[in-house]
Amino acid sequence: MLELFTGISELVLPFKNEDNNSPVEVIRDAALLVENGKIIAFGRGDEVKSKANNAKETKLGQRAVVPGFVDSHTHAVFVGDRCDDFSKRARGETYGEIAAKGGGILSSVKLLQNATHATIQKQSLQHLETFLKHGTTTCEIKSGYGLLPEHELRQLKVIGDLRSHTPMSLLSTVLAHVILEPEYVEVFCEHILKPAAEHKLAQFCDVFVEEGSFTHAHAEKIALAAKACGLKLKLHVDQLHDGRGAELAARLNALSADHLEYTLEAGGRALAKAGTIATILPGCSLFLGKGPWPSGRKLRDVGCEVAIATDFNPGSSHIPDLALCGAMAATRCGLTLEEALWGITRGGAKALDLHDRGCLRIGERADFVLLNASDWRKLFYTPGSAPIRQVFIEGKSVNMAPAAASY
Ligand code: NIG
Ligand code: FE
Repeated sequence: MLELFTGISELVLPFKNEDNNSPVEVIRDAALLVENGKIIAFGRGDEVKSKANNAKETKLGQRAVVPGFVDSHTHAVFVGDRCDDFSKRARGETYGEIAAKGGGILSSVKLLQNATHATIQKQSLQHLETFLKHGTTTCEIKSGYGLLPEHELRQLKVIGDLRSHTPMSLLSTVLAHVILEPEYVEVFCEHILKPAAEHKLAQFCDVFVEEGSFTHAHAEKIALAAKACGLKLKLHVDQLHDGRGAELAARLNALSADHLEYTLEAGGRALAKAGTIATILPGCSLFLGKGPWPSGRKLRDVGCEVAIATDFNPGSSHIPDLALCGAMAATRCGLTLEEALWGITRGGAKALDLHDRGCLRIGERADFVLLNASDWRKLFYTPGSAPIRQVFIEGKSVNMAPAAASY
């Protein structure tokens, strides 16, 4: 079925504009033509209309259209909350101190291990509904709160089951998150990573490389095992100190290196050379309230492609709103609005190795967001209240949850 979308004040395409070196192209008075959920034409309204014989027309009221957002790094499957941790941090305790006293990631592990599959699924679905309301049409979700093989695999199965409850595309990652004893690396590779790959429960493997967590040597071992299972590698690096994690990600040819708060110029250059996508997570810097912001600017200036993701999780970034993260990337991480838009659309897609979305190119999925504004830059102009009017997935308007999930 042919569908024609007219009345687009600005159609924003994250292509590189060679004339002004902008990462996005803006077409005014535009239209989109969609067939079976895919873009078959885009451009000036009159030109597209001439190709649209008998198409069903939807008038978008002179509003801006941007691609659906791609959130390439989340931990959206978890149980309960860590509001106590948040409250303690506001009184001055650090993320590390709270974890050492029984809060932190391990407290989320306990909640997940003790919950039923149905409870995990129900609570996680609420998060996904909130993502969708905020314009996210594709989202990656990691394991890492199960820790033990049976619970890690169950967490990944929940992600699989969620696919039939949401129109969003979900990608899943098996995450080595907490190391209890050195033998855990073997357990992870043999009893979590391998079965996850065998049963197609994950497309990616990720490791939290940090002091007190996994070392470079652990990550190298896990990366080898992931490669042998056909999983693509992503890494959490340089979040709490400069651990030369960016260089590690480049050396291991990771698809993306995420966090990068403490990454120095040499690390950025290594990522650029390796073609590893540099993913910044400004929500973490806001939510933890201490430590530096990742420098999107410096990363781009040394040649990296910079994606932006929420890192949505109960402990370090309880922020499901990717447009807000884009706004912070502009106000605190040095990116232009155009670079921020690229980061939450095409950048996210590249960080997930997806080539059928993020740009609204011909042949791509018709996943797009209609703004309640004619100027697309308004997407970032009211951080936390982006003017999102309607979300389309494969050309269909998706039902938005009537109200934000109550946390
Ligand atoms: O990406 N850094 C490790 N993992 C998450 C935090 C998870 C949590 O605190 O529950 C992150 O920040
Ligand atoms: Fe994370």
